[in-house]
Amino acid sequence: MSFKNILKGEYTEAENVMLEKHVPTIVILSGHGGDGNDFVRVIVGKEVAHPNTIEHHIAWIELYGVKQTGESVDLGRMVLSPGNTRPDVSFKIEHIEEFKSFCALEYCNIHGVWEGSLDIADI
Ligand SMILES: [Fe+2]
Repeated sequence: MSFKNILKGEYTEAENVMLEKHVPTIVILSGHGGDGNDFVRVIVGKEVAHPNTIEHHIAWIELYGVKQTGESVDLGRMVLSPGNTRPDVSFKIEHIEEFKSFCALEYCNIHGVWEGSLDIADI
């Protein structure tokens, strides 16, 4: 059994003719709000909204980070309610300056698991 095609990303989307987009977009929100909190926002369908129905929806979003030390950290998982919550979630991060990159995974109940990543050096 091969797991080669389980995780999809930008390369898959580029070859695909689907209108809706699946690759998670990661945005850093530094010093957000009155208290100066830092968030990592993960959006699925930023440019073209993904369907949000019982039949076709994003079921969950996970976020991972890699620290400057090289340590990989599981930062959490959001489970979404089809038809009620959009796949646009924010994780409040402690000591965001310790991270050098983030990776998000999301699961579409029809199109599978997709990944997107962001290197802090690139922003
Ligand atoms: Fe989908």
